[in-house]
Amino acid sequence: MSKVKDQAKMIRIFDTTLRDGEQSPGASMNIEEKLRIAHQLEKMNVDVIEAGFPIASEGDFEAVKKVAQTIQGPEIAGLCRASDMDIDRGWEALKYAGERGRIHTFLATSDIHMKYKLKMSEQQVIDTAVKAVRRAAGYTPNVEFSAEDAVRTRLPFLAKVVQAVIEAGARTVNIPDTVGYTIPSEYFNIIRYLKENVPNIEQAVISVHCHNDLGLSVANSLAAVQAGAGQVECTINGIGERAGNCSLEEVVMTLRTRRDIMPYETRVNTEHIYAASRLLSTITGIVVQPNKAIVGANAFAHEAGIHQHGVLMEKSTYEIMTPESIGLNANKLVLGKHSGRHAFIARLKELGHDLSKEDIEKAFVRFKALADLKKEIFDEDLDAIVADEVVRIPEVIKLVQMSVSSGSFSAPTATVELEINGKVKKTAVLGDGPVDATFKAIKKLTKMEPKLLHFGIGSITGGTDALGECTVRLEVDGREVLGQGAHSDIIVASAKAFINALNKGMSKAKKNPHQL
Ligand code: KIV
Ligand code: ZN
Repeated sequence: MSKVKDQAKMIRIFDTTLRDGEQSPGASMNIEEKLRIAHQLEKMNVDVIEAGFPIASEGDFEAVKKVAQTIQGPEIAGLCRASDMDIDRGWEALKYAGERGRIHTFLATSDIHMKYKLKMSEQQVIDTAVKAVRRAAGYTPNVEFSAEDAVRTRLPFLAKVVQAVIEAGARTVNIPDTVGYTIPSEYFNIIRYLKENVPNIEQAVISVHCHNDLGLSVANSLAAVQAGAGQVECTINGIGERAGNCSLEEVVMTLRTRRDIMPYETRVNTEHIYAASRLLSTITGIVVQPNKAIVGANAFAHEAGIHQHGVLMEKSTYEIMTPESIGLNANKLVLGKHSGRHAFIARLKELGHDLSKEDIEKAFVRFKALADLKKEIFDEDLDAIVADEVVRIPEVIKLVQMSVSSGSFSAPTATVELEINGKVKKTAVLGDGPVDATFKAIKKLTKMEPKLLHFGIGSITGGTDALGECTVRLEVDGREVLGQGAHSDIIVASAKAFINALNKGMSKAKKNPHQL
C-alpha cells in the first residue's frame, strides 16, 4: 500500500454544489446560504468551488462575487457561456478572487446539440470556443473550457476542439457527460483517446463532469481518473440536475479507501464530509436517503447481529472505512437541559454550523425551550433548530401566532396571525383538516395562490415529545421552492414550512445554463 501511496497522483476536486447542484429542483439558495456552504467547502479544502453562473441573475452574480471576496484557499469558478457578454460579466464577479478566479466557459460539441440547439457548423463551434477562451484568457490565465455533451461528440471532432481551446489558452479542459449516458469502459476510452490524439494535451488538466442518470457518475469519474483525468467535478450529496452529479463524498472516499490499488489522492479533509452533507441538507431541505453511500444514516449502522458481533471484535471485519474518517463521531454527544452554552456551541461547530454570536443566542434560546420538553437533544434536533431559527431567507411573511381546533366533533378551523411587510393581519378559516385550514388561512392573508406539489411530515427523533419537521414543495410563479419548518406542534411546523416556501418563492427567478 505505501508504495502506491508514495507515487500517488494528486486529483483536483472541483465542487459544483453551488452551481450544478443548485440546479436540482428546489435546491436554490440565497447568498447567505451559498456562503455558508462555501465556508464548509473551504474547510474541506476542495481545490475549486464553482460558485454560480454570474450572468443568470443578479442574485447569482452577487453570490459569486461574495464567495470570490470572502473565501480563501480554493479557486473560485464562475460558469459563462461562450460569449463576450457572459465572460465579461463573469470576470466582474470573479476578479475579487485575483489569481484564484477561474473563468469556466462552455459550448456544446455533439451533433445533436450543434444541429438543434446551437444551429452551428463544426467550424463555427471551434471558432466560437476559441474566441471565448481567448477573451477569458485576456482576464486570467485560469481558464477552463467545457465541451458540453462531450460524451455524444464524434471523437475526432472532440479532439480538434480540445486541441484548439488549449492553443487558445485553456488550462483545464472538461469532458462532461452532460446527460449521464456513458459507462465506465467507454468513458475510459474517451479520455485515453484524447490523451493519445491531442498533441498539446499535456498543457492542460483533463477534467471530468458526470451526471448520474444511469447511476454511474462515480464509477465513470473513477474510470476517467484511471485513464488520466486530473480533475473531478462533483457535488455534496450528489445533488444536481435531474438524477444529480457525481457525489463528492463517494469519489473522495473511494480514492482514499482504495489507495492500495489506485495510486491517487486528493487534498480533501475528509473529516469535514459529514458536516458538509448535513449542512447542505439542512439548507436545501433535500433529505439524504438513509442508504446513501458514505453519508446516509445507515451507512455505518450494523443492524445484523452477526455484523455487530464482528465489528465489536474487530472493526475491519465489516468496516472498510471508519465513521471518524468522514467526521461522524461514533460516540455522539447527546445534549440535555443541563447542557451549557459551551457544549452547545461545540456540538454546533462539529455539525458544521459556524454561527454568529447573535445566531447562537437565538438557537440557544430555542434549544433550551426544546430541552424543557424533551430529555435528550440529538444532532438532528440541532440541525432542525438551526434550519428553523438561523438558516433563513429574508422574511417578508412571518408567523406571529396561530391556533387550530380540530377533531371529530367540529369542522377544523385555523386562526392565523401573520406579519406581512411589517403589518400584522389575522384571519380564521375552515378547512378539510387542520393543515388544509392553516394553508388556506395563510393563502388568504398573503393573497398568494401557490400550487402544493408535495407535503411531508416526520418526527426528527423518536418519542412523542420529538420535534416535528415539515417539508413542503410549492410552485410559486412557475418556480419550484422547498420550505421547511420545525416545531413540537406539527401543525405549527407545517405553517412555518409553508411560509418559508412562500418567502423563498418571492426571491428572483433564475435561469438554467442548459436552457439558455
Ligand atoms: O453537465 C454539463 O455539461 C455542465 C457543463 C456546463 C459543464 O454542467
Ligand atoms: Zn452538469
